[in-house]
Amino acid sequence: MKLGLNIDHIATLREARKINYPDPLEAVFIAQNAGASQITIHLREDRRHIQDDDVKKIIASSPLPVNIECACNEEIVEIICSQRPHKITLVPEKREEITTEGGLNLDNPKLKDIVKEFQKCQIAANVFIQPLKETIAKAKELGVSGVELHTGEYANIHLALYTNFGADKNAPKELKIPRNQLEFLLENSIKEIVKGAYFAEELLLDVFAGHGLNYANVQRIAKIPPIAELNIGHSIISRAVFVGLERAVQDMIKLMRA
Ligand code: PXP
Repeated sequence: MKLGLNIDHIATLREARKINYPDPLEAVFIAQNAGASQITIHLREDRRHIQDDDVKKIIASSPLPVNIECACNEEIVEIICSQRPHKITLVPEKREEITTEGGLNLDNPKLKDIVKEFQKCQIAANVFIQPLKETIAKAKELGVSGVELHTGEYANIHLALYTNFGADKNAPKELKIPRNQLEFLLENSIKEIVKGAYFAEELLLDVFAGHGLNYANVQRIAKIPPIAELNIGHSIISRAVFVGLERAVQDMIKLMRA
């Protein structure tokens, strides 16, 4: 099981002050030493964290393969094609959202051409989707090489069940429900991810997963055999504040492979 370390939030810290540190490029080398297999960054339309210059520097210098998350936006596609990362993951994007919400809508008529555009530049294209059979089948039709299954719903239910998140003002209303209902929802969301992962494997797609994974919830997802890689950011960068990035990455990898 491989870890793709998402380093967006190192740039979030830098952009909070609009200065030139901390530099996400520094994290790339620490991630490699700690055993990460890939660096993931999201070049958002609003450039709230990763900047165009980060993309250039990271792709030019990273000893690890680089996965760039991006929206279906022509300007961004052009920038990424010119830099040739190893792979890209198409994600939905809304300016007002705090983080990527939900999976990509595969009915977007532009999608097929965007996937082709990346493939012309020899960049493997993946889509970030809900783990639903119908959506995975559509992804296959688009010609992508893999799918990243959205674990955000599972992660939120897990938080509500095992922490005080359910009582938090930030918790979605649908999670303010009795524990036995949360347990039921959690098991259902795991079953959906497992079913989706096996279905994607059957279709010969690469299978990845991510969003909201943390030290408490990662193991049930890491155990699902077809999933080859997890992309994790926020929880690792948060832990790094207290224990340092190298240790935070090592701790996550230990849990994923236990
Ligand atoms: N995978 C995808 C496609 C994402 O958009 C994100 C968030 O940028 C992640 C993984 C990482 O999510 P988190 O920061 O919650 O670990």
